[in-house]
Formats: sequence, structure tokens, C-alpha cells
Amino acid sequence: MYKFINNVRNDQKTLEHSFSFPEISNLYSKKELENFPREILLYVKGCGNPVKSSKIIKGEKILDLGSGIGLDCLIAAKFTGKNGSVTGIDISPEIISKSQDIVKKTRFKNIIFKLGTIQNINEPDASIDLVISNCVINAGYKKIDRVFEEIFRVLKPKGRFIISDIVPVNEKGNLSEFQTIKSISSYINSIKKTGFTSIEILEEKKYHPQYISLTIKAIKSYD
Ligand SMILES: C[S@@+](CC[C@H](N)C(=O)[O-])C[C@H]1O[C@@H](n2cnc3c(N)ncnc32)[C@H](O)[C@@H]1O
Repeated sequence: MYKFINNVRNDQKTLEHSFSFPEISNLYSKKELENFPREILLYVKGCGNPVKSSKIIKGEKILDLGSGIGLDCLIAAKFTGKNGSVTGIDISPEIISKSQDIVKKTRFKNIIFKLGTIQNINEPDASIDLVISNCVINAGYKKIDRVFEEIFRVLKPKGRFIISDIVPVNEKGNLSEFQTIKSISSYINSIKKTGFTSIEILEEKKYHPQYISLTIKAIKSYD
């Protein structure tokens, strides 16, 4: 069943970009997906599973950049519980409206979806415990330094991010029309420049001949 759904996702995606997304069953376990409306799986466009390694503590305030249909928001909401919150930000009014419709069909009251951009995040300074993002920053936005500066600004001291993203396999990767960063080391340098510490690559997978999917964690230092 997952394979069929993935084909539908990739038919939609082919119209926008030149790569296909990993199988959903390669990213999420059945347990993570249980009890969510099945239609959500048609719209998932991630390349990793940032929540899996995020060790969310109850009550945390979580922000998902480029939340899309909101699957990662739903998974995160289970962990943070009713005293925490999850905010999904996306640039597309259509996807925001769709994700709002879907969340109404679930039991979660601690998720909101807001129209906005990852380069000008409409959240106060030092207000977020955890930023997640799945296949958005290098996949779609040209100035990734700006995005990491914004993530740094909104995180509380000792706050963390866990981001899944793609980089081309080599500098000549033909995904160049929508990717700024061409190598893992340039990606890490962009994060370091912003002031993040304890940068770790949690997962590095090649789901596709032309790109590598990374899941990276970093912490906003004390000062
Ligand atoms: C590849 S999809 C990933 C969606 C979602 N994270 C997931 O895992 O299914 C990229 C998403 O980022 C959004 N997006 C692209 N550029 C953006 C920007 N500059 N600011 C906010 N959202 C953006 C798109 O509308 C789309 O929903």
C-alpha cells in the first residue's frame, strides 16, 4: 500500500521538480503513522524523519519549517502533549488550508499551521525549544545562511534543531535549479557560521542516485 501511495506522491512531485521522494515506509514506521487520516500520506514530501531523533520532552514548543501537509507536526504533537505546542509554517496557502482541514480530523488541539516563510520567521526571539524541518531548506530556498540565522534567533538558549534535507551527490548534481548548497561540508559550514554548536549528522542516506538525504542536529549555544 505504501508503494502505491508513494507513486501517487511522486507523480504529483514530478510536475514540480526532477526527483522522486523516498518511500514513506523507508522514513516512518507503521507505529508512527497509526491513527492519522490516511489521506495525509498522499501529500507527504519529506526526505527524512526529523522527529525520530528529537527526544521531545512534554511541554516543549516546536516549530516545523515548511511543514507541508503536517505529518511531522502530528508526530511531534504526540510527544509534546497538551501542555506543549507545534506550529507549522508554510509558504503555500493551499497546503496550509489542507493541513488545517486534516488536523481538525485528529484529536490534537496543540497544533497550528500558519502561512509564512522560513527566511522571515514570524515568531519572537528565543521562544522555541525545537525547530524541525523536512526537505525544505536546501530543497527549495536559495539563501540557506539566512534561514539558519532565523532558526538561531527563534530558538531559546540550549534549544536545538533537527533537520532533514538533501544535498546533491556531487557538485554537478542536476538538482541545481533549486539547490544552493552542493556538498555536505558546505551545508555544515553554513550551520557553524551561524553560531550553532554540537553539530551532528544523525543520518545520511542515499535514496536517490542524484542526492543524499541528511538528518542534522545542532544546539544553540548558551551565549
Ligand atoms: C518538499 S515539501 C516538504 C513538506 C513537508 N516538510 C513534508 O515533509 O512533507 C517543501 C514544503 O516547503 C514549503 N516551502 C518552500 N519554500 C518555502 C519558504 N521559503 N518558506 C516556507 N515554506 C516553504 C512548500 O510549500 C512545501 O510545502
